[in-house]
Amino acid sequence: MKKNLFINGNWEDGEKYSELKSPYSREVIAEIAQATKEQVNKAVDSAQETFNTMKGLSSFQRSTILDQLVNLLTTNKDKAAEIISLESAKPLKFAISEVDRTIETYKFAAEEAKRISGEVIPIDAAKNGANKIGFTIHEPIGVIAAITPFNFPMNLVAHKVGPAIAAGNTIVLKPASQTPLSAIFLAELLAQTDLPKGAFNLVTGSGKVVGDALVENEKVKMVTFTGSPEVGKNIKTRAGLKRVSLELGSNAGLIIDKDVDVDSIIDKCVNAAFSNQGQVCISLQRIYVHEQIIEEFTRKFKERTDQLVLGDPLDINTDISALISEGDLSRAKTWIEEAVTEGASLTTGGTIENQILRPTILSNVGNTSKVSCQEAFAPVVTVNKISSVDEAIQQINDSIFGLQAGIFTNNILNASQAIKHLEVGGVIINDVPTFRVDHMPYGGVKESGNCREGIKYAIEEMTELKLVVWNHN
Ligand code: SIN
Repeated sequence: MKKNLFINGNWEDGEKYSELKSPYSREVIAEIAQATKEQVNKAVDSAQETFNTMKGLSSFQRSTILDQLVNLLTTNKDKAAEIISLESAKPLKFAISEVDRTIETYKFAAEEAKRISGEVIPIDAAKNGANKIGFTIHEPIGVIAAITPFNFPMNLVAHKVGPAIAAGNTIVLKPASQTPLSAIFLAELLAQTDLPKGAFNLVTGSGKVVGDALVENEKVKMVTFTGSPEVGKNIKTRAGLKRVSLELGSNAGLIIDKDVDVDSIIDKCVNAAFSNQGQVCISLQRIYVHEQIIEEFTRKFKERTDQLVLGDPLDINTDISALISEGDLSRAKTWIEEAVTEGASLTTGGTIENQILRPTILSNVGNTSKVSCQEAFAPVVTVNKISSVDEAIQQINDSIFGLQAGIFTNNILNASQAIKHLEVGGVIINDVPTFRVDHMPYGGVKESGNCREGIKYAIEEMTELKLVVWNHN
């Protein structure tokens, strides 16, 4: 079935189409239009021409449009979950929860649209500011190019489209080439709302043609990107004076202190390490367990991991399905083998069954093994022994990434140490690092990114601050 581009409120043919295959069955599920550079520029033109209309909408109107989207998505929940599952091999149970989160994300956007406000500045606090008062306004920035990843094809799009509309911007969206169907579905729903024609445009195709054309187009005022550090850095170097928001990868770490009740955390750890086959930026990748409880933890963690059900993503009982591509499967397998050659022991997993990588636990892994120091984006987790929380903090910080980290502890001083010393964007106390609700500030330091998402925070990134100084002499 052919899927077209959405430009200026119309569906437009591609000059070429590319086959989209299910990562699980490898069957063709759609033919996706590959936008040319001219079509990308046309989409940007349409977003640029609609900007004044969009800017002229009241907060109430923008909020109402987002509410309309929430209602449409709620009515079409089952269909949305099936689309995610089909195109990304995300097991249906996780796809359903992604749709629930997406609805909540757009609800937060509808609410935040009504709360965009500035502040009053006492200009007369300065010697030369007598008889003046100031205030700030957050104005929309203009055309935003959103480039989104495959791992949450609906909710990570919502984290860009929601705040962009809430703030009064226009958008050109380039979804991941592996998962365009969720974005196409969004375009179909937005077309049924009061969003002005041309305010939302969708251009599918390769990063080389579509991504590059967006990053290079002078009319684009901001690029918001979620994906790999390699691509993110490339965008930043080429974007010129555009604002660039990058939400990149990580190798999230967890500390388990000696006083923790192991049984109470096993399910959380399994879920954090393996949900969506580990293809989550905050997937639990490195676990540091106190020497007093590591034997018990590893045994119970392995037992529970071995119970996970591998299979068809569209089966509601499936826990683990295929990785997004064959290339990722063989990369993950090679990294596991390398770690073992470098001295790690394979606690469980490491094998491939029907093209699905069994959830894998590696113990005693060196910091320089790729499964530890790079982003695995696969169902692979390392478990290492530590003798103190301080030692674990050092291990977690010994990384090029810094998105989120977690600590389970009953010791308030150790929790404080973690808050103070972990070099990350978010510290999660008494839970896994794989924790996100959609209104919290989310983003990292180091190579994990340079911005914060979470609707209110993304709106700050997507607006210009304008100062008004009023002389009332
Ligand atoms: C991500 O992979 O960056 C997003 C994780 C999430 O939203 O849960």
